Amino acid sequence: MTKVFPYSDKVMDHFTNPRNMGEIADANAIADVGNPACGDMMRLFLKIENGKIVDAKFKTFGCGAAIATSSMLTEIIKGMTVEEALSVTNQRVIDALDGLPAVKRHCSVMAEEALIGALKEYKAKQGGEATEGGVKSA
Ligand code: FES
Repeated sequence: MTKVFPYSDKVMDHFTNPRNMGEIADANAIADVGNPACGDMMRLFLKIENGKIVDAKFKTFGCGAAIATSSMLTEIIKGMTVEEALSVTNQRVIDALDGLPAVKRHCSVMAEEALIGALKEYKAKQGGEATEGGVKSA
């Protein structure tokens, strides 16, 4: 069957059946980010216990690529330590989705920025600061 959209099967799956969409009522790290290029927005909720991400959910008002990357991001980081999650880049999310069209790569940046923002908020509350060393953008 001919593909209608230039997206991988994984992108289409996470777009049409997003994982972890919603809110965490008792989240202890939340970040809001927006994409100035298009006006799309994402809110990421994390529940962190003993330095480990035990739950992650998102609300994204955005395009299909933004929803798919938000969904995949939450799948990747659940179970990670805060330190491990700090090194998760948008490229890693794109790779896990078997790629994104070049014109949609910018959509994946929101997920990375939301993750870093939420982890920084968590670390600030713990009395430490997230280092920029673990933050890389593709
Ligand atoms: Fe706005 Fe994709 S077009 S995030």
